Amino acid sequence: MKKCDIRDRSLRKVGKERIEWADKDMPVLQLVRERFEKEKPLAGVRMSACLHVTAETANLCRTLKAGGARLLLCASNPLSTQDDVAASLSYDYGIPTYAIKGEDTKTYYKHIRAAVEHKPFITMDDGADLVSAIHTDYPELADTVLGSMEETTTGVIRLRAMEADGALKFPVIAVNDAQTKHLFDNRYGTGQSTLDGIIRATDMLVAGKKFVVAGYGWCGRGVAHRAKGLGANVIVTEVDPLRAIEATMDGFWVMPMAQAARIGDIFCTVTGDIKVIRREHFAAMKDGAIVCNSGHFNVEVDIPALQKLAKSKRRVRAFVDAYTMRNGRTVYLLGDGRLINLAAAEGHPASVMDMSFSGQALTSEYVVKRKTRLAPGVHEVPREIDEWVSRLKLKSMGIKIDRLTAEQREYLASWSMGT
Ligand SMILES: NC(=O)c1ccc[n+]([C@@H]2O[C@H](COP(=O)([O-])OP(=O)(O)OC[C@H]3O[C@@H](n4cnc5c(N)ncnc54)[C@H](O)[C@@H]3O)[C@@H](O)[C@H]2O)c1
Repeated sequence: MKKCDIRDRSLRKVGKERIEWADKDMPVLQLVRERFEKEKPLAGVRMSACLHVTAETANLCRTLKAGGARLLLCASNPLSTQDDVAASLSYDYGIPTYAIKGEDTKTYYKHIRAAVEHKPFITMDDGADLVSAIHTDYPELADTVLGSMEETTTGVIRLRAMEADGALKFPVIAVNDAQTKHLFDNRYGTGQSTLDGIIRATDMLVAGKKFVVAGYGWCGRGVAHRAKGLGANVIVTEVDPLRAIEATMDGFWVMPMAQAARIGDIFCTVTGDIKVIRREHFAAMKDGAIVCNSGHFNVEVDIPALQKLAKSKRRVRAFVDAYTMRNGRTVYLLGDGRLINLAAAEGHPASVMDMSFSGQALTSEYVVKRKTRLAPGVHEVPREIDEWVSRLKLKSMGIKIDRLTAEQREYLASWSMGT
């Protein structure tokens, strides 16, 4: 196995500049790094991280290395890698990186294999592919893993399914479920960067368009609100009645996809589900409809069904494929149905990843410093980590908040006082 596998070493200079640019918007992570540098809480710990290889991830990796970790990084998606960042990580920061933007499935899994063969004590995942590879292909390694961190909703869903099956052999911390992660990263990060990805891919005006968002979870709320902010008429599709009411009261039209398919101009799935836009929906779409996904896997849009319906497929711009169907209409699919914010743009802005990745770094420290290994299963991020990260984030933003007075504390803890 090569010492790293990246596209082009000469991109390192640009990558380093981008990593440093992102770092200035990650003040909380900087504080963690400064402390890690002094205390070395991860000294000598072998770690493998399978994450989107972005400038923000690079700053997390620098932090883990500053803490003493012997870290290896591989891509968590074939299309989300920033090749310049991968070059800089490997050659400026000494973090072996296995990631090439646009890599095929075989290379993607070869890179995951490199992460497994590093024999990590701690793993980090965005989508659970690394944990899954260890359990499926290297079960003997599972007993030696001290713990794992999971970054995204889809990964947590997969891991809970493994836990329910009795298949999960080591502890995993659901970093996604920390308040300082999904409330901000999934909502504001995915919201902004998904619109950024759609705009960069198409250069289209969003104002006045009928913009269909499938799923009104943390990410869907963000995407819907940002599309509305740009002047779109937003339609939400849902399967959960509570979320559908929430979307309605937030001022969005709610309807089934079968109905939305006929009127939408731009479609974006963010459900974590499969075949949310499928054959009958493509067949009903208007000529020129744009379809993309910002959920974790490229299964939300049924691409094989689109391919079957199409009589021709043509790449018309980077990240835009025109599928002309037998009914004469053309549907444009963005970014091969992969997360459009990472495929066509740069993923979440650094300021929001500051919280997510501070949580990741501190959770790794928590797992390593515990005297005993946590039981196999999915665990929550300790509450103190969420509190610490949110207080420091607020401080870094120069925002002060009130404190409870002694009388208020007493009042809130008592039941005796009424009208
Ligand atoms: N693009 C990114 O950078 C990014 C960032 C964070 C999370 N994600 C991914 O985005 C996806 C959504 O994450 P989330 O945190 O919003 O999850 P969530 O569970 O909060 O929301 C998902 C929503 O989709 C709805 N849904 C499920 N099936 C549906 C269907 N067939 N039609 C319509 N709605 C349906 C659910 O009812 C739920 O409300 C996951 O795959 C997650 O891993 C992507």
